[in-house]
Amino acid sequence: MGKEKVKQYYIETFGCQMNVHDSEKMAGILKSEGYIETGSAKDADVVIFNTCSIRQKAEQKFFSELGRIKSLKKRRPELQIAVAGCIAQQEGIKIIKRAPHVDFVVGPQNINALRDIITSRSDSVFIDDNPSITEVELPADRKDNVRAWINIMYGCDNFCSYCIVPYTRGREKSRASRSIINEIKDLAGKDYKEVTLLGQNVNSYMSDMDFPGLLKEINKIDGIERIRFITSHPKDLSDELIFAVRDMEKVCEHIHLPLQSGSTKILGLMNRKYTYEDYKKKVGKLKEIMPQITITSDIIAGFPQETDEDHKETVKALNEIEFDGVFAFKFSPRPGTRASNMNGQVPEDIKSDRLYEILEIQNKITERKNKEFKGTLQEILIEGKDEKDTGRFTGRTRTNKIVNIPLKNNVKPADIITVKITRAGRHSLEGDIL
Ligand code: SAH
Ligand code: SF4
Ligand code: F3S
Repeated sequence: MGKEKVKQYYIETFGCQMNVHDSEKMAGILKSEGYIETGSAKDADVVIFNTCSIRQKAEQKFFSELGRIKSLKKRRPELQIAVAGCIAQQEGIKIIKRAPHVDFVVGPQNINALRDIITSRSDSVFIDDNPSITEVELPADRKDNVRAWINIMYGCDNFCSYCIVPYTRGREKSRASRSIINEIKDLAGKDYKEVTLLGQNVNSYMSDMDFPGLLKEINKIDGIERIRFITSHPKDLSDELIFAVRDMEKVCEHIHLPLQSGSTKILGLMNRKYTYEDYKKKVGKLKEIMPQITITSDIIAGFPQETDEDHKETVKALNEIEFDGVFAFKFSPRPGTRASNMNGQVPEDIKSDRLYEILEIQNKITERKNKEFKGTLQEILIEGKDEKDTGRFTGRTRTNKIVNIPLKNNVKPADIITVKITRAGRHSLEGDIL
């Protein structure tokens, strides 16, 4: 009797950390069914695209990848192609109509259906609402063995007027604290050092305890040295949370706190539920209570009805707050969202000009802020070899700055060491082991 060939999978991931972690869960399901990973779609029996629809660009990138794989399916009709993630949820059967070489469409709330898909090939579209997602425990096959992503909640109820996420990820649901804590204890047993708690709005976490309460429990877990969380919503940043970050030794001094715009008028149209003044006050408090904290943010350029004056307010905000780093994007109208139908859409060239100005100003601020680290001593967690320059190790400060250091025999990934910062660029710092 001939030995059956081991089946192989290939997953291509687009989008946010939530998707990166969902891909780890899909990999976990496939491995438990006996599949192994391959680095190329060419050798795969199953190809999964885990997609993102946050901006039009992300969507276009996926559809061009999908077009490219058509010839492969023609040559090997037995190849199974699945589309997962946010575009899957949004488009459903329309994806198969548009691209008949796709076999399956699986939304983010239904990734547990992957097992049925590969074993029984029953249905082809899985996009139903799944409120019990918080109870599904899926074995994640994590890429990293020092740092781990953990879902603490799913979905989003905020309905920021530009955003597709509440439509693709469904209603906000928190996972029970017990199951989060068990997962992290298990990771600690496997020598993980850092956990990042994931949610679209982590600081609104609420199950049998609230978010500061959850941090307190995780802070007690032996073996875990660092706790991070993304993303926080400014409206839910309570004093209690600020003090929790200060007082818990494992919770790192960095917060990603998307501002989106410096204009209170635009924030209102975005349905963000805070004014620029509210935001500034909260940042002031963070810095007063933890002077070492780093703050990063997201900005949208050219939201509908954004005037030159509104844009100037965003520029002013960047200069006032001095973020450590910013992700800035041109507003992209997403189908079905309120902002896509608002009057006063801003022309593309103006959006580009505003984005350019935002990036130019922020780049200077980021560089200046990084330079402040020069000469300081920093505790870094070694993540592994530097991707580009294999002659070095790379790690991060507690404040989430990337630090490259020379390889030394006695240092290895997962070590926490103190380094002296010798150089500072815009994207990373360099350090020497003491
Ligand atoms: N839940 C998180 C992440 C949302 S998506 C949060 O609230 O921050 C990440 C970022 O993408 C957002 O913060 C926003 O700045 C940007 N974004 C979302 N929808 C967008 C759109 N339609 N056009 C441009 N940028 C968008
Ligand atoms: Fe989108 Fe707003 Fe929810 Fe973030 S908080 S995912 S920007 S709706
Ligand atoms: Fe994209 Fe969905 Fe994440 S739209 S940013 S993959 S939640």
